[in-house]
Amino acid sequence: MALESSRLAFERSRQSLGGGVGSGLRAAMRPHPLFVREAHGAHLWDLDGDKYVDFVMAWGPLVLGHGDPRVLSAVAAVAQRMQVVGTGHALEYLAAEAVLEAVPHGERLLWSNTGTEAVQVALRLARAATGRRRVLKFARSYHGWHDTVYAGMSDEDVDRPAAPGSKGQSSSVLDDVVVGRFNDAALAERLIGEAAERDLAAVLVDPIMSNAGVATPTPEFLATLRASCDRHGVVLIFDEVIAGFRIARGGAAEKYGVTPDLSVFGKAMAGGFTQSAVVGRADLIDQVTGGVVHAGTFNGNPVAMAAVEATMRVLADPGVYPSLEETSSAFETLVGGALGAHPQGGSFSRVGSLLQYVPATGTTELHGTGGLWEVILEGMLRQGFLFMPSGKVFLSTAHAMSDIEATSAALERVLRGA
Ligand SMILES: Cc1ncc(COP(=O)(O)O)c(C=O)c1O
Repeated sequence: MALESSRLAFERSRQSLGGGVGSGLRAAMRPHPLFVREAHGAHLWDLDGDKYVDFVMAWGPLVLGHGDPRVLSAVAAVAQRMQVVGTGHALEYLAAEAVLEAVPHGERLLWSNTGTEAVQVALRLARAATGRRRVLKFARSYHGWHDTVYAGMSDEDVDRPAAPGSKGQSSSVLDDVVVGRFNDAALAERLIGEAAERDLAAVLVDPIMSNAGVATPTPEFLATLRASCDRHGVVLIFDEVIAGFRIARGGAAEKYGVTPDLSVFGKAMAGGFTQSAVVGRADLIDQVTGGVVHAGTFNGNPVAMAAVEATMRVLADPGVYPSLEETSSAFETLVGGALGAHPQGGSFSRVGSLLQYVPATGTTELHGTGGLWEVILEGMLRQGFLFMPSGKVFLSTAHAMSDIEATSAALERVLRGA
């Protein structure tokens, strides 16, 4: 793996593009971001023509791998007829119906473009319904980069005024955030119990902490959130932007048997195209006809809708999730086994097709790893395996058992030199 063309491309890109890559976190790739010429299935090729097994999967959307032919042909067909129309079209409701059919609490839906936008819409709906202002989130959870929720990113923020996650955030909105601790049901019950005094409109939770460890929620935790929200008139929102349609077709509600009032979906829903959605109770969502503003030029555009409809159709095949589970569990066993054979190797936590490298010390920060990951990341890149700087691993239906076996063998080679 020469990586030379990517190094030169990154140098050139930084002259025109702020940070040299389209999203800030991508710059964390070592020794520099990979520049891709093309991608198919579970593989991609860089500018030098070198081939990689891809475990980044575009940071989540590609649950069917790159360029699934069923998604591509649906998109190509509609793109010939229309691109964006600024009025209604049939795919807008056909795609909505396909999503609602999969989600247990799917009564109604709103389209947005990104996860960040859809989280903002969900919070607005909750504030409008309750007449309250604040949001309980959980330390280290990521819900997009907008000012209201990019705060309280460390365990030190628990039950304290939330610290901003970025320079340049408005300090006035930080007071809207209350920070709990994931899987601490007693603390959540106390904080939600003070909803009236705290002016709490919503509880916003990523049910598996997709960006901070990938954790299984205890049955008590989600059930406590549901019961406390009901008792104190607070809207329960699941942020399933990463987990949705990846851990189960019906998302966290199907997997864990706890139903939120609203869920936010994005990424995997559109099989590689840009679209997100707020899904849930009709009375909450129908507030958009009663004064809650929800807008967006590209919401529900035909190309994205064709991608959503086609992706949801593929995911409705009863064979999809068992086969994804088989590949993901093989990854955990084989690649995790190679890690476990090294004294400082660490391990993987896993929920469905999402895994997270956990250093031997046992703790994972938001967007961070530690342990041997930096060595593994660069060593594996040079062997032809692309991983994320954060240690998160995305599997897809396009990954074959041979990809997993090759990854395990390469990791053994890398760790032998570590
Ligand atoms: C759990 C979660 N919520 C929200 C978002 C924001 O989504 P987007 O990057 O599409 O704005 C992300 C992005 O990674 C996410 O992981």
